[in-house]
Amino acid sequence: MKTKILITGSNGLLGQKLILALSPMTEVELIATSRGSNRSVVRESYTYLPLDITSAEEVLYVFTQIKPDVVIHTAAMTHVDQCELNPEECNELNVAAVQNVVDACAANHVHLVHLSTDFIFDGTHGPLDEEEMPNPVSIYGHSKLRAEEIVQAKLKSWSILRTMLVYGVADEMSRSNIVLWAKQSLEEGKPIKVVNDQFRTPTLAEDLAQACVLAALKKAEGVFNISGEELFSIAEFVYKIADFWQLDIGLIEEISTESLGQPAKRPPRTGFIIDKAKSILGYRPHSIQRGLQLVDEQLKRRENQ
Ligand SMILES: NC(=O)c1ccc[n+]([C@@H]2O[C@H](COP(=O)([O-])OP(=O)(O)OC[C@H]3O[C@@H](n4cnc5c(N)ncnc54)[C@H](OP(=O)(O)O)[C@@H]3O)[C@@H](O)[C@H]2O)c1
Repeated sequence: MKTKILITGSNGLLGQKLILALSPMTEVELIATSRGSNRSVVRESYTYLPLDITSAEEVLYVFTQIKPDVVIHTAAMTHVDQCELNPEECNELNVAAVQNVVDACAANHVHLVHLSTDFIFDGTHGPLDEEEMPNPVSIYGHSKLRAEEIVQAKLKSWSILRTMLVYGVADEMSRSNIVLWAKQSLEEGKPIKVVNDQFRTPTLAEDLAQACVLAALKKAEGVFNISGEELFSIAEFVYKIADFWQLDIGLIEEISTESLGQPAKRPPRTGFIIDKAKSILGYRPHSIQRGLQLVDEQLKRRENQ
């Protein structure tokens, strides 16, 4: 018997890595869904359906027709400053649409793997384990915490995977990430400002996909922290990126979060303790060095295509 897995937001960074991880698995039947047409270059061994998660009717119809065993819900409004500037849109995607997904899962007895974030915390200390008390400091953080509450209150069978600072390469990405942004800016000789007072354990997108697959196949119950194991300030991480590609570190200017003046507040110090995911899911993240090597190999393969 194959496990039928449906992904939402399959055009996103995580969504595309999930297609790559799940489509070759003979024990899985994969249905990838996202807003609009399919942007993944991988087209074999799965079905793609356009699905806008803000439509409760559409979500219920698709889940009822497909009857998946597991849904991996990756679709979200992920740009933190845009959420701060457009709270209604943020609420529609990150809260109301999660309610749609949860209701359709409940109606069809589906296990939900839901994606959450370190931005549900205030960042006064870290690294954090799964028992830490949330206290969001941004509209995005509030929306993702509310979504976690909906999942936990309404479903019998769920996994919540909290992640942070995800990096990697995908096709026609709607947003960049720190590794691609820093690499490209420094290659183009552009000076960049990076904050030295925010601390994170960055996450390779392939590692996050691996965790989602493990949680989905085990129908693992509960909250799991998913990230890399190395804690850096954002500035330290950018120096590491520059060092890996041998780029000019003279272009990097370290600044404080306050002087950057972004619309949304960020938690200063998070980072995750990932022991629970390692012991229960069998999660094994790559080192940052290996993660950057994988990104480099993927970028070179694209250049040669
Ligand atoms: N990236 C991070 O650093 C990070 C950190 C912590 C937590 N997370 C969480 O991890 C999850 C996956 O993140 P990601 O990096 O893969 O995000 P992403 O690259 O921004 O992907 C999100 C995807 O959702 C799709 N989407 C947006 N609105 C939709 C709608 N109404 N219906 C269907 N699909 C819709 C987007 O489509 P378009 O491409 O067409 O816009 C996009 O492809 C999210 O839940 C996010 O909150 C991410």
